[in-house]
Amino acid sequence: MVREMTETNLRSAFAGESQAHMRYKIFAEKAQKSGWSNVARLFNAISFTERVHSGNHFRSILTKGGFQTVSAAVFGARDTLEDLQAGIDGETFETNEMYPAYRAVAQFQGEKAAETSFKWALEAEKIHAGLYQRAKQAVDQGKDVAMGPIQICNTCGYTVEGDVPDKCPICGAPKDKFRTF
Ligand code: FE2
Ligand code: FE2
Ligand code: FE2
Repeated sequence: MVREMTETNLRSAFAGESQAHMRYKIFAEKAQKSGWSNVARLFNAISFTERVHSGNHFRSILTKGGFQTVSAAVFGARDTLEDLQAGIDGETFETNEMYPAYRAVAQFQGEKAAETSFKWALEAEKIHAGLYQRAKQAVDQGKDVAMGPIQICNTCGYTVEGDVPDKCPICGAPKDKFRTF
């Protein structure tokens, strides 16, 4: 059994990541239709990261079910500029408040697996906010964002632009665990 507070946080994080995964996919379709190919690629790459996070949280949850999950976020159609701002706001909240708090509770309760899952997510979200910020600056000026290949660790979700690292700096996974977008 996972201690109650940590498990509540895992369920909430699973719900939030699941929605972010889908929301970013929808944002990507919109960006593609609007002619922002690199912005679409960025949304798809980060969507994959959030899928990795949701899977990691899910595997740490041991209850049989019967719980509702709630997650607060934006809903509904917007333009890509607003979608990017929604991404920035969500990632910033996760970086500054949600994951540090969830991680501290898991640490306090001695829940190692959950603590690792929260820490891995936190490290990736820190990077996501900055990437969305860059994309928004470009779209603000009426341009697609200039961005090289985006590499995602399929173990922890670590996200980096450019070449695949020899080893993931967050979880230690080898090069072949990365997926390129
Ligand atoms: Fe995430
Ligand atoms: Fe993220
Ligand atoms: Fe990793």
